[in-house]
Amino acid sequence: MTKQFAVIGNPIEQSRSPELHHAFAAKTGVDLNYKKILAPLDGFEKTTKDFFVQGGVGMNVTVPFKEQAFALCDQLTERAKIAKAVNTLWMQDGKLFGDNTDGQGLVAAIQALGWNLANSRILILGAGGATRGVIYPLMQAGAKQIVIANRTLARAEQLVDDLKTAVPETELQTIALDQLSGEFDFVINATSASLTGDVLQLPETLVFHHAYEMAYGKSSSFLDQAQARQVPSTDGFGMLVGQAIEAFSIWNGVKPELKDFL
Ligand code: ATR
Repeated sequence: MTKQFAVIGNPIEQSRSPELHHAFAAKTGVDLNYKKILAPLDGFEKTTKDFFVQGGVGMNVTVPFKEQAFALCDQLTERAKIAKAVNTLWMQDGKLFGDNTDGQGLVAAIQALGWNLANSRILILGAGGATRGVIYPLMQAGAKQIVIANRTLARAEQLVDDLKTAVPETELQTIALDQLSGEFDFVINATSASLTGDVLQLPETLVFHHAYEMAYGKSSSFLDQAQARQVPSTDGFGMLVGQAIEAFSIWNGVKPELKDFL
């Protein structure tokens, strides 16, 4: 029987998840249908429950419902608990399970580029939901040091406070966004600046060797600056594919190869 999946969000038209999951299915021989669901802003819970009552197997969750999905779950993975946000749902033994595959998606995308996270020094720009979703998997991937830079320093400090004991081998620090300096193996842009078209100015006192922009399909002043410095850089399409592969493998028990879909 064809397994039913969906991605829920508002707006949802822009989502590329259906095409990715159908491509994974074609490659692995899984019989599935994956659709987009536009939920009303006040209708996430009802729409999700209806989907699973009607036999839906798994659902991805996107903006603005990831925190509501977290709150709705009966069981959460460790990384979803730390992220306080859920992007992957499924039913098991009558319970709603939630995971967050964004961070592992980012780690897999970085590794697929041949960039080495082990013992690395990472600077993350931003301290919002996008950063919270990825920081624990980056720590688990062996980062030696992660510095969180944010315009509002208190938000970065809160994140460090929440995560400081999660992986003892990783040193966590904060810095104000207008004080950026030092040398890093990676700088990751997890601010929403590229989505709104705002310019993030990277000062000359900041030295970095790889640049990862989490957004994709948009122009990015962050990527422009990395390219001007001739630093290896990429947008977030690989992360999108990586999080989808993680969800697909949870639901279907078979894991497509990331490199086949980049
Ligand atoms: P998301 O879920 O995408 O992370 P968010 O929780 O609203 O969204 O967080 C947005 C992040 O981008 C925050 O770190 C925000 O900085 P503040 O905490 O100081 O608001 C950052 N951000 C957004 N626009 C920015 C800009 N123009 N310059 C610098 N940082 C910006």
